[in-house]
Formats: sequence, structure tokens, C-alpha cells
Amino acid sequence: MRRERFIAGNWKMNKGVSESLEFLDKFSVLLEQGEDIPDAVSVAIFPQAVNIVPMADHIRSRGVNILLGIQNVHWKPSGAFTGENSIPCAIEAGAKLALVGHSERRHIFREDDLWVSSKYLACLEQGVEPLLCVGETEEERNRGLTEDVIERQVSAVFSHDPGIMAEQERILIAYEPVWAIGTGLNATPRDAGECCAFIRELLSGLGGPSLADRSLISYGGSVKSSNSEDYLEQEEIDGLLIGGASLDPDEFYRIVCDAF
Ligand code: PGA
Repeated sequence: MRRERFIAGNWKMNKGVSESLEFLDKFSVLLEQGEDIPDAVSVAIFPQAVNIVPMADHIRSRGVNILLGIQNVHWKPSGAFTGENSIPCAIEAGAKLALVGHSERRHIFREDDLWVSSKYLACLEQGVEPLLCVGETEEERNRGLTEDVIERQVSAVFSHDPGIMAEQERILIAYEPVWAIGTGLNATPRDAGECCAFIRELLSGLGGPSLADRSLISYGGSVKSSNSEDYLEQEEIDGLLIGGASLDPDEFYRIVCDAF
């Protein structure tokens, strides 16, 4: 049986409140005119943290089936961490998901594997579902290190405490090669599918085949409506994490429809 589909938009540092609500209005009209999102497809948006409360209110009042996530969290629930987001506060605001280890956090903000793993654990302990992002840089790919990097990033989160895996219904991971993010360059669907298959093997080794089989592994990196179907056709790719193309409601809707 096909696993559930997971389609998520990462809005990064784009859109204020009014633009975000306008997007939701347009997106819900498209859904009303077309097909509603089936239960087997989860659609999520990661807006800027300041937009979560108004968007959550809007989603509730329009009855749209979209989950909201936060782009970055701190591992402590509260304290003197100027500029960081607390998980309990994100949940209160309406976030159901949190991005952890996105390549922009790893590379621009220098988050290392230890930080990523602390944030991931904190998400589980404090009650928001983490979406772990992994992927190699162009240099690492050219040096043939893609699988080593993925393995290191996945193991950093899961290998020191097998209990983390046992407690989870499923694991959400996005394979996002750094060189494909925001560049217009794509991993071929086949390469992306092979990396997702490799991630599932790692999960199987760490947490057992049944957890690996329930887990959802997405591809991200310059996905658009013109290539989304090619990725979703790959057996091992369960979903997509979309940056630039998710900012336009028509384009995002077209990609979401490819998952139906
Ligand atoms: P992109 O971003 O689709 O603009 O390449 C993907 C991401 O950063 O998650």
C-alpha cells in the first residue's frame, strides 16, 4: 500500500501577515473549485513565526486542511535566548510541526549536528512533530560523500538513543541536497529516490523495518509544478518540501494536486 503523501511549503523569511492570509484565501478558493485535499495527503506550510497565530485563526475559520509548522525552535522551553522560538509557545500559537536541521540553519547559522539533535529531541519531548532535513553540499557530492553525510546527519539524531525511535509513530525526513536549494538545479528524480531509499534503510537499521516503512521521506530542492510529478512517481519519495514555488498559491496548488 502507498504511504501517505506529505507536501510542505517552506516560506523562509517571506510574506507578512496580510500576504499570508491572502495566500490562504486564494489557496482555499482553488481547493473549493477543484478537489478537496484527501486524508492520505498532508499539506503543511512553514511561515515566519510571527504569522502562525493569524494563519491558524484563518485556517480554522475557513476550515482548510493545512497544517502549520515553525521554521526554527530552541531546545529549552523558555529562558534567556533572545530571538529564539519556544516550542510550547509555537504549539500554543498553532504549530503542529517544526523544521529541524534545514540547510540554511546548518550553513548560514552554523547549527551543528549536536544542536540539530538537541532540537529534534526537544520537539519530541515538548510535543511538536519534527521534520528533519538532511543533505550534502556540492563539494561533498563531488567528493562522493553524499551517503556518508546523510548517514552522519541521520545517526547524529537517532543513534545515541534507540528509545527516541521506539516512541515515534513515524519519522519525517526531507532529503534536500544543499546545492539544489534555491538554485534552480535539481537532483534527478532517480538520484533523489536513491537517497530517500538510503535514508529509509538507515531508519530501518536504527529503528526497525516497520518504523522505516511508516516513515515519510520527502525530497526538496528547486521543486516546481513542472517537475513535482517526476519526484512523486519515485517509489521511495513520499513527499516534497518546497521553498520558492510554495510562495505562489496557484503553483503550490498544482504541486499539491500532483500528490492526489
Ligand atoms: P527551494 O527551497 O524549493 O526554493 O529550492 C527548498 C527548501 O529550502 O526547503
